[in-house]
Amino acid sequence: MDNAEQIEYWNGEAGKRWAQDDDTMARLLRPISEALLEHAPLEGCKNALDIGCGGGSQSLMLAQRLGGDARVTGVDISEPMLEVARRKALEPAGGRAALEFLRADAATHGFKPGGFDLLFSRFGVMFFDDPAAAFTNLHGALRPGGRLAFSCWQAMKKNDWVRIPLQAALQHLPPPEPPPPNAPGPFAFADPARVESILNAAGFNRVALQPFETTLRVSQGRELPEAVRELARIGPVSRLLTGQPQSVLDTVFPAIEDALRPWFRNGALDMQCAVWLVTGEA
Ligand SMILES: C[S@@+](CC[C@H](N)C(=O)[O-])C[C@H]1O[C@@H](n2cnc3c(N)ncnc32)[C@H](O)[C@@H]1O
Repeated sequence: MDNAEQIEYWNGEAGKRWAQDDDTMARLLRPISEALLEHAPLEGCKNALDIGCGGGSQSLMLAQRLGGDARVTGVDISEPMLEVARRKALEPAGGRAALEFLRADAATHGFKPGGFDLLFSRFGVMFFDDPAAAFTNLHGALRPGGRLAFSCWQAMKKNDWVRIPLQAALQHLPPPEPPPPNAPGPFAFADPARVESILNAAGFNRVALQPFETTLRVSQGRELPEAVRELARIGPVSRLLTGQPQSVLDTVFPAIEDALRPWFRNGALDMQCAVWLVTGEA
């Protein structure tokens, strides 16, 4: 229960790949970022914590939204991603909130009690070994009446952009060992009842999950084979393909191309995704 596996994962090859792809991810996730910022209760917020901030693109958007007299602290366990984030903090502030980044495990870090008035995250809270304990720790960092707002993925069956390439790859590869139920990972918060119960147990009130579905432009201005290789750098399909010999990749990539062809039009790959926009109050 110490998040060791995730700390290793996000500081290893996967974390480095995410850091390199930060601009691409920011573009890909922009419709979700905007919906989250629109939905989050930001009024009067002066001191926000961005949990699992990664390369900081969402922290920057939040800082722009909160404006000059606020502060956003991004916390993450991944040094490669924090290096990218810290470069963003050096850019001229231009009316945005002050930005700072902290390398720490958000599940256990000793934050100043009641030091924040908003806990925020884009896809950074589904990786805790013990989510109830992690959210209890985070709840302690929120002032009474402070707000919580984050996005997490709905079930994989509603996320074509992940499910379809993975199913195509699995036609040619043995399925991985099934993870224990609710194991940390991108889909760990897919079940709304589970999320609500974790947050209530951690002390949050008025927990609400709003479904949000949109189309993600997974790739643009590339031929389908390149688009598929770009998509295969993230999510469960990337975990499946990591370390596979070239001979296997030579079979798997064309299979993914065939599966995705119906969504490829005029040089763009547009696919359906579904997330929860989660809010709560301390
Ligand atoms: C899917 S990425 C999202 C990154 C970023 N929020 C974004 O949207 O670009 C998940 C992030 O959560 C971070 N993370 C995972 N477990 C964490 C923990 N216990 N404490 C802090 N950050 C964590 C990872 O290092 C990674 O940067």
